[in-house]
Amino acid sequence: PDASALARAESLIGSIPDYPQPGIVFRDITPLLADAAALRTTIDALIEPFEGRFDVVAGIEARGFLLAGAAAIAAGKGLVPIRKAGKLPRPAATVSYALEYGTAEIEMHDDLPAGTRVLLLDDVLATGGTLEAGRELVARLGAEVVGTAVLLEIDALGGREVLGGDVHAVFHV
Ligand code: PRP
Repeated sequence: PDASALARAESLIGSIPDYPQPGIVFRDITPLLADAAALRTTIDALIEPFEGRFDVVAGIEARGFLLAGAAAIAAGKGLVPIRKAGKLPRPAATVSYALEYGTAEIEMHDDLPAGTRVLLLDDVLATGGTLEAGRELVARLGAEVVGTAVLLEIDALGGREVLGGDVHAVFHV
């Protein structure tokens, strides 16, 4: 994608002060998603480094789903959901991870064929806990994460270090 189209897409990401709590700046990607050209450009930039190297796209609930469906169609690949615990109907693998307060669990059906090459997507990289857990989940199933990509990386929160530097971010803040 060309730089001016990407810059225009980036300009559509909103910053909402004091949401959901005082002192937090919420990054709102919904105006970008609502714009056809920005969505297309962003999805293309998200998957470009991994073209031809993955078999499925895995997206993390909930906002990762918004990108994963579009990315899977754009790449001509299937989509595997990584869900919050308790939502999947068939046997699934589970990984717990730390939140600021307490823990969360994500799950993936355990029938992904061994060796499947997975492109792991989420909307935002903050502390990195969610994507690190996603990677562990894929590995536990005997599949291979060949790439990890996000629409927006919040650089100051250190998620990139947690992921060993191996993450592709279309935009940074
Ligand atoms: C947000 C975001 C990422 C995660 C990033 O999800 O969509 O999944 O946090 O944070 P981290 O890098 O610190 O782990 P959230 O848990 O708010 O869930 P949602 O997508 O269901 O709103």
